[in-house]
Amino acid sequence: MKILVVGGGGREHTLAWKLASDSCKPELFCAPGNAGTLEICTNLDIGAEDVDGLLRWAIENKPDITVVGPEVPLCAGLTDRFNDAGLLVFGPNKAAALLEGSKLFAKEIMQAGGVPTASAVSFVSADDALAYVADHSFPLVIKADGLAAGKGVYICADNKDAEKAINDVLVAREFGDAGSELLVEECLVGEEVSILALIDGENILMLSSSQDHKRAFNGDKGPNTGGMGAYSPAPIMTDELWPVVKEEVFQRTLDELKKRGIKYQGVMYAGLMVTAEGVKVLEFNCRFGDPETQVVIPRIKGDLVPVLQACIDGTLRDDMIEWRDESCACVVMAAGGYPGSYNKGDAVLGLQDGAVKENVIVFHAGTAIKDDKVVTSGGRVLGVTALGKDLRSALDKVYVSLTHIEFDQAQYRTDIGKKAL
Ligand code: AMP
Ligand code: GLY
Repeated sequence: MKILVVGGGGREHTLAWKLASDSCKPELFCAPGNAGTLEICTNLDIGAEDVDGLLRWAIENKPDITVVGPEVPLCAGLTDRFNDAGLLVFGPNKAAALLEGSKLFAKEIMQAGGVPTASAVSFVSADDALAYVADHSFPLVIKADGLAAGKGVYICADNKDAEKAINDVLVAREFGDAGSELLVEECLVGEEVSILALIDGENILMLSSSQDHKRAFNGDKGPNTGGMGAYSPAPIMTDELWPVVKEEVFQRTLDELKKRGIKYQGVMYAGLMVTAEGVKVLEFNCRFGDPETQVVIPRIKGDLVPVLQACIDGTLRDDMIEWRDESCACVVMAAGGYPGSYNKGDAVLGLQDGAVKENVIVFHAGTAIKDDKVVTSGGRVLGVTALGKDLRSALDKVYVSLTHIEFDQAQYRTDIGKKAL
């Protein structure tokens, strides 16, 4: 069994790490991978967004399954092109990936399907958007329609914030074509939780809950990032909420997509807000979350390959995954300055330290090998992750290990999971 993992971040290292332990002992390839995947995969010098290059490699090397991490190749139609060439992919096709690729499309699906979400209005004209916000009370949320690497969402406290957001998106065109339209959305209040579901076109298998920490600094302060840490399970997702989310979020979305002739296969990620009026959808992603994957995947007992295969074959059952009782926590070590500009090429030390090796799993994100040594190569460098009998014990292991790992100007949050404790 040959498996190609597309991507090179912490999510992909985690997926590859899990696949490497599968009883079918697959031969793993990762494109492009990082210094962590290199220990278990053959890294390919092909970028995750180079769909032509990936397809050329796959036609020649015939992976049995391709597992796609990031949204960009999915939204660009990697699955469609691989399928046309007779290659199996875990991940939605282009039409289904639009659920992440266009926030307008996602909102339209949710509104038509009766999925609970923030009310929203869309605009192409800056003048119309400005007139609308001037007439509404704040806070409001403004979102660029298309893919903006997590930067296209503005929480606006007042008219001045809204003017800046509208100007950035529709006038300055900071997101290019991804910002040719925007949504002005009701601001929801509550606690966030990420629920990922595997879907085979028909059947839904919800994965365990997790919570991300999007802001750069302690106390949820500072700029938004890709995610600075996560834990699973998230206690905010109570027993009563599971059937509600399955029916009102995943089933209704799937039904509405089906009505339009769109088949969804892969992971559907729902970013949810648990509000006083119930659960509402903030966003959908068409892929595994990062760093949610780092805390959800290690809690899976048993093999992942048969589950991915069942998604592709249409034979998924909701009892295919058994969960460990332990909690899992991940703290992201980022390069100083991230999510702004930061250094690359700094040596990462301490990874072989006994206190690190025995207690935690270090998932690599922005790392590379230079002169046989691990160096930084991205903003989020490592996801230091541990299982523990409860969240506190998992976090303790992570934070002790973090004191043994170093690189120049490393930064990490010291309050991951605090709200759940
Ligand atoms: P998104 O990329 O749509 O998930 O937005 C990024 C972050 O912005 C979310 O994780 C929330 O913290 C916040 N957010 C998005 N939409 C809303 C909303 N309607 N109300 C409050 N916060 C929101
Ligand atoms: N952790 C947020 C995301 O993957 O989009």
